[in-house]
Amino acid sequence: MKTKQFHITPEHLDAKALQSAGTILKEGGLVAFPTETVYGLGANALCEKAVESIFAAKGRPSDNPLIVHISDFSMLESLVRDVSPMAQSLLKAFMPGPFTAILKKQPQVSGVVTAGLDTVAVRFPAHPVARALIQAAGVPVAAPSANLSGKPSPTNARHVLEDMNGRIDAVIDGGDCAVGVESTVVDLTGAVPVILRPGGVTYEQIQEKVPDVVIDEHVLRSVAVEEIPKSPGMKYKHYAPEAQVIVVEGPLEEGRREIQKQLKACTGRQTGVLTMQETAVFDADCVLFAGANMKAYASRLFTSLRAFDEKGVEIVFAQFLEEPGYGLAVRNRLYKAAANHVIHVGRQD
Ligand code: TXA
Ligand code: MG
Repeated sequence: MKTKQFHITPEHLDAKALQSAGTILKEGGLVAFPTETVYGLGANALCEKAVESIFAAKGRPSDNPLIVHISDFSMLESLVRDVSPMAQSLLKAFMPGPFTAILKKQPQVSGVVTAGLDTVAVRFPAHPVARALIQAAGVPVAAPSANLSGKPSPTNARHVLEDMNGRIDAVIDGGDCAVGVESTVVDLTGAVPVILRPGGVTYEQIQEKVPDVVIDEHVLRSVAVEEIPKSPGMKYKHYAPEAQVIVVEGPLEEGRREIQKQLKACTGRQTGVLTMQETAVFDADCVLFAGANMKAYASRLFTSLRAFDEKGVEIVFAQFLEEPGYGLAVRNRLYKAAANHVIHVGRQD
């Protein structure tokens, strides 16, 4: 299959291109598109065959459910039921935006989308191209991140093509994604909201609206294979580049010294460092700056992991000192990329 390429940006919402891409989606094809978080791989959520082809294109296990994307609150009614006043208030506060709500599903939502669960994940993206595409398709759009299963999520169209060229009908190049990590997945079916995956809307932002919001215990620790987590995606090793990743967490100067020490023991391997200190010098083959704050780190993390792979790096040390806000999402993705291989420095205990 030849993958068609469209160029549609927020500054130039090319109506003809949107119509073509929307028609491909509506008629059962796969179209990758930009959102404010990462690129999504969309299919008509009402067409089981189209949704099944997402799993095939990504090599994604069929027990990992998809997020349904909408372009209008009116699309919600046919997808979800039993929305509590607490849930309503969060939908109102964070949609459109990098926020995914888990709600009870309507019977007509296919079990192929939800992996047989009685809940469905719904997201109303803020990105103008994503919204215009869903509108043009005229149907809700099921979309996971547009990477091969297990690879870091794509934050530009080039990354999408690296993984998906020839496997999908089309990709829309809409430029770089601003947030760089995926949406915050929040279970809204209970009395209190539960964060199942930290992301573009922070814990602090949600807490401001609902003070007793909780973070699922699986978010910050590894998941044993025999456990059944609430969000099936949590059990997979995600976001991992080809290179081995080791997180070095703690005060930056101590982190830098530890990384230098580790690098000395890596003779014969192509080494990489992802650093929070822009001017620090490391004896590594490839040094990338992650940014000095958590928001910058989030926006560069997946891009950097892919860049290390492109340069043939075999082992990456990622320097990390957590701050509030985006820090939780960055830590979660880093730990996953590292399969929980973390060296703590500067601990008093
Ligand atoms: O930012 C994002 O969320 C991107 C863009 C494209 O919207 N999408 C994304 O999709 O990251 P994906 O499929 O890579 O991740 C969806 C996550 C998975 O961890 C999945 O297990 C969880 O959401 N999920 C989906 N439906 C669920 C449900 N009914 N209950 C619990 N977790 C669910
Ligand atoms: Mg994904």
